[in-house]
Amino acid sequence: MSPIVLGIETSCDETAVGIVNGRNLLANVISSSVEEHVRFGGVVPEVASRAHLESMQQVINQALLDAKIKISDVDAIAVTAGPGLIGALLVGVSSASGLALALNKPLYGVNHLNAHIAVDTLDSQEEFRPSIGLLVSGGHSSILQINNLVTDVIVKGSTIDDAAGEAFDKVARIMDLGFPGGPLIDQQSKSGNRDLINFPRGLTQGNEIEKHKFDFSFSGLKTAVARYLAQTPNHKKADVAASFQEAVVDVLISKSLLACKESGIDNLVIAGGVAANSRLRELARQRCENAKVRLRIPPASLCTDNGAMVAALGSLAIAQGIGPSAIGVSADSAAGVNQIIWA
Ligand code: KG4
Ligand code: ZN
Repeated sequence: MSPIVLGIETSCDETAVGIVNGRNLLANVISSSVEEHVRFGGVVPEVASRAHLESMQQVINQALLDAKIKISDVDAIAVTAGPGLIGALLVGVSSASGLALALNKPLYGVNHLNAHIAVDTLDSQEEFRPSIGLLVSGGHSSILQINNLVTDVIVKGSTIDDAAGEAFDKVARIMDLGFPGGPLIDQQSKSGNRDLINFPRGLTQGNEIEKHKFDFSFSGLKTAVARYLAQTPNHKKADVAASFQEAVVDVLISKSLLACKESGIDNLVIAGGVAANSRLRELARQRCENAKVRLRIPPASLCTDNGAMVAALGSLAIAQGIGPSAIGVSADSAAGVNQIIWA
């Protein structure tokens, strides 16, 4: 029988709990403190930690109700142990340890980044195939070679400055669109002309591509947008948003497909908050079809931070016979994708 795994996510501003039974999603409850951070234009770590503490119990209870199970039905607890805001992570890790101790069930400390990818296995009958992974969130942007979701992930390249989501958030700020910027730029872009402004595609030209074949750079793009806004008083926001978005999405997909071609792996999985972007999803579908690469992207609602992804990775670890983490497992704010399940 497949285990029931309850996953807790608190690495940033979402207090989230997901419940899975094997690879079936039973519940996915998210309480966000984003409203409390809007006036600061970014997430304030101490405000986020306090909000996690305040909503944790209620979010767990709601998830149990949605899944129609009792807490005693849970077979294992999974929790994001890194990377993320340390105070925020510690609330999740402490809550999960307490639950695991009280229920006398195994605890799995899991990596948030790998969990973004693992969520793609939910409600799917297919076996995971070795894939190139494009992981794009607010704090990370990397191209990965994923041989095994739980044991073998290799970084092929990463951003050398801003993450893709961070670029969306910063450009939205300089355009006075609000926070978080990704969904707002996505929305604005729908009525804009994405071909109007040819914004720079970082690390795609000349000898830069030699040295940084699978790396990204978005800070020059952000500066180019700021310069364009200052020099073009009569600009239409929608056109700037759409042209900026096109530049980001173009580079992300081009480099991912190059990684597929070079490695001979014809599977691409795109994950993380930016994978919710409608243009990224559309262009990836078109270009993967042309390149005969099989594309997987989780539903948009499971791309941004959630607890289901944490439960999904915990469940995969159990299915592969990986032992649990120690109770009192520690959080690591700077964990890399190679640290998938904590010892
Ligand atoms: O994965 P995530 O929810 O949190 C982190 O682990 O960082 O990613 C959040 C990031 C934010 O930068 C947000 O602006 C971006 O994902 N994002 C989007 C969209 N929805 C969220 N970026 C572009 N288009 C979207 N629709
Ligand atoms: Zn995330």
